[in-house]
Amino acid sequence: MKQVIFLQVLLGILCCFSIFCANAEDPYRYYTWVVTYGTRAPLGVYQRVILINNQFPGPPIEAVTNDNIIVNVINQLDEPFLITWHGIKQRKASWQDGVLGTNCPIPPHSNWTYKFQLKDQIGTYMYYPSTSMHRAIGGFGAVNVNQRSVISIPYPAFAGDFTLLIGDWYKAGDKALRKRLNSGLVLPLPDGLLINGLHKSSVFTGQKGKTYRFRITNVGISTSINFRIQGHSLILVEVEGSHSLQEVYESIDIHPGQSITALVTLRGAIKDYYIVASTRFTKPILTTTGILRYQGSHTPPSLPLPIAPTYHVHWSMKQARTIRLNLTANAARPNPQGTFHYGQINIVRRLVLANAEVKINGKLRYTVNGISYVDPTTPLKLADWFNIPGVFSLNNIKDLPTSRPPALGVSVFGLTLHDFVEIVFQNTEPTIQSWHLDGSSFYVVGYGGGKWTTALKKRYNLVDAISRHTVQVYPNSWTAVLVSLDNKGMWNLRSQIWSDRFLGKQTYLRVWNDEKSLYTETDIPPNALRCGKAIHL
Ligand SMILES: *[C@@H]1O[C@H](CO)[C@@H](O)[C@H](O)[C@H]1NC(C)=O
Ligand SMILES: *[C@@H]1O[C@H](CO)[C@@H](O)[C@H](O)[C@H]1NC(C)=O
Repeated sequence: MKQVIFLQVLLGILCCFSIFCANAEDPYRYYTWVVTYGTRAPLGVYQRVILINNQFPGPPIEAVTNDNIIVNVINQLDEPFLITWHGIKQRKASWQDGVLGTNCPIPPHSNWTYKFQLKDQIGTYMYYPSTSMHRAIGGFGAVNVNQRSVISIPYPAFAGDFTLLIGDWYKAGDKALRKRLNSGLVLPLPDGLLINGLHKSSVFTGQKGKTYRFRITNVGISTSINFRIQGHSLILVEVEGSHSLQEVYESIDIHPGQSITALVTLRGAIKDYYIVASTRFTKPILTTTGILRYQGSHTPPSLPLPIAPTYHVHWSMKQARTIRLNLTANAARPNPQGTFHYGQINIVRRLVLANAEVKINGKLRYTVNGISYVDPTTPLKLADWFNIPGVFSLNNIKDLPTSRPPALGVSVFGLTLHDFVEIVFQNTEPTIQSWHLDGSSFYVVGYGGGKWTTALKKRYNLVDAISRHTVQVYPNSWTAVLVSLDNKGMWNLRSQIWSDRFLGKQTYLRVWNDEKSLYTETDIPPNALRCGKAIHL
């Protein structure tokens, strides 16, 4: 027995020094994804979309915590391409994050293989193209991470799982949207909403009396949605990797880039019911429907659709505050979520990030603390690894909003590994924002209207705030989060409103210590693509 354990440890260590650090016991899942253009008519008119293995949306990844995921992405588009794994933490390996700050893009008609582990994660996630405006025409899909067999989940068994990717959709292709943005125009309202790539025809069938788990993600690029099911309530159980208090909701807001998991029990009469998603804070409101069908039903769903809030910001903020962490439940690990007392940790640094819509050289851009991010041709992560000067500087962006004139730039915050940091998102625009951080989740401790001040800290939830990777900031309002930066690497902090991110509303957090050790960060993968100033290195 002892010998076996010794061998396993030895194997584990050897493995860490081989291509990438993975536990020899954890299973591998291999995927080959051929990315092509195709034609679909999600809103009734044929248009060009991005397919993965001929599928729109792309194929789901169904996996278990700690699985090793190997995805060979074959780019048959006519443009450089990358996929990012939204909410997948890529522990110690921002090399696999798939954004232009960490990876060279996969050139057209070539391929690259992602290799990563779903380390210590559980929950509902997604992937999508991070390059250009590609995700506006597809290439996205679900990543569902289930618990290991030795881990309990804090809710009863369910009869089945449904995955719903809901998002806004434009009939104009990615190139037309890009051209419009580059010419200085904001995007119009999307043309509609889709559920799993379909406008009004997604059907989910279950048995009367049984409970189903709904994994719901807002894959859209611009609008918040409200989700509801006619005649049924939703019991929220998980939010982006955290087990939530199991509150009951008639409808729930999901902002771009966010995921929730809810249980739905089929208690009604045997018939069909409408599943409804409608946009929030838009004029007009866009709505789409799907169908929850009870097995044996011969009765179509009946109008009216269940009503929902439309413009009401206050309703949404109030609901957001009810989404809280279940302190006694475990997540991917057996220890309760409440054992990490985030409210008692000393904050070593505060970033107040103000977003703005500006004109730079007469052109529409978006800024964070005055800097409108521009991707350098050399990924930041490669510049770090090869010590290439002149790619980025840590002094370009300030910790607080400034009054200096807006400028284009490569903004990177220099942070120390294990820093405990407060980030206040100060929305100075009259539109809703959605902010996402790669590599770590954050505790959402407060939402409020107007301008944030230190006096508002006394209103923070320092006990059971939800920990998630994407958070909304209401129009002309603020949201405060606390984050423990325990994942060394180069991490993108970005707007999920994709037009804004495309025009500069993003930045990077460089989480760093000078010790070079495989315990804190893996080496550059042997297959890493080279580009820019790293091309011959
Ligand atoms: C490209 O795909 C081939 C298999 O088709 C594979 O052997 C090779 O490792 C891939 N290249 C990269 C850089 O991942
Ligand atoms: C919290 O999690 C525990 C499991 O540890 C579960 O029994 C309980 O019902 C959950 N409470 C709420 C309010 O969700």
